[in-house]
Amino acid sequence: MNEVKTLGQFIIEKQADFPYAKGELSRLLRDIGIAAKIVNREVNKAGLMDILGQTGSTNIQGEHQQKLDIFANGQFIKALTSGGECCIVASEENEDIIVIDSPVAHNAKYIVAIDPLDGSSNIDVNVAVGSIFSIYRKINTDAPATIVDVCQPGKQQVAAGYVVYGSSTMLVYTTGKGVNGFTLDPSIGEFCLSHPNMRIPADGCIYSVNEGNYVHFPKGVKQYIKYCQVEDSTTNRPYTSRYIGSMVADLHRNLIKGGIFIYPVTAHAPQGKLRLVYECNPMAFIVEQAGGKATDGLNRIMELPVTELHQRSPIFIGSKNMVDMAERFMHDA
Ligand code: AHG
Ligand code: MN
Ligand code: MN
Ligand code: MN
Repeated sequence: MNEVKTLGQFIIEKQADFPYAKGELSRLLRDIGIAAKIVNREVNKAGLMDILGQTGSTNIQGEHQQKLDIFANGQFIKALTSGGECCIVASEENEDIIVIDSPVAHNAKYIVAIDPLDGSSNIDVNVAVGSIFSIYRKINTDAPATIVDVCQPGKQQVAAGYVVYGSSTMLVYTTGKGVNGFTLDPSIGEFCLSHPNMRIPADGCIYSVNEGNYVHFPKGVKQYIKYCQVEDSTTNRPYTSRYIGSMVADLHRNLIKGGIFIYPVTAHAPQGKLRLVYECNPMAFIVEQAGGKATDGLNRIMELPVTELHQRSPIFIGSKNMVDMAERFMHDA
């Protein structure tokens, strides 16, 4: 077993990649790692705590909030507030941005957008869930942070990552210089480097889409799904369908094995379901940095203009050649 490298050691080692940084981003990633460990602890024993089920409240998305949604949200906000490196938190679970104006954060220059718990519908049935984060630099360092600092296109992200609470718990992130994965070692309570320089295969044999919405899919998506199902041994078809309802878990599998994840517009979600700021953009940054592709079926996700915090977008993301093929069906439809 080669030498153990913790997330903290890795971050400090890589800090040399950012000559202008004076450690703030490193401390911010550390703060996120701490929150992830606390959320992991509750996820792992959720059945033994009064933390399963719904809270009875509804979030801005119109979703019934799960107790673990609220717990995770609180932990990330607490870690980001006390860490002092973040001036705004934007969360799926909060209608408006949270401006952090504590003395310790008075010259903080980073904005963090979070999906504190992704795949909430899976919590009570013990299926993998995740957390997603996206980090921007404040646009005008001399002025107080506002919603304008949050509504930046995805290509302005400084860093992005996710935690997947699965058979093991992993934290995967990028700062624009590749993608690295860390596995939580519960015996020492540290995320340890386990997947250095992650690359998504250019081709894959897995397609991930909720085919329950098939009837209302755009024509190009229907045609692409049929293409995935046709027998053709020269292109390894039919592909395998894998979809578990947690974007983080579905994308993590496809990142490692190759595959495409599609959440197109549907009758119920005419703009798409997934949120641009704290789901699509961070996952697009990671997948692009691993050599993959992420579009809305036509346009690069990270170029899409961001006009409001909870804006939604269709998303086609994963192995480059598979996204290219799906886009051809969308274009020709
Ligand atoms: P969240 O739990 O953060 O609201 O996100 C759920 C998302 C995403 O994780 C998943 O891919 C998608 O919802 C599943 O949607 P459907 O159940 O409509 O397929
Ligand atoms: Mn939700
Ligand atoms: Mn989500
Ligand atoms: Mn969520």
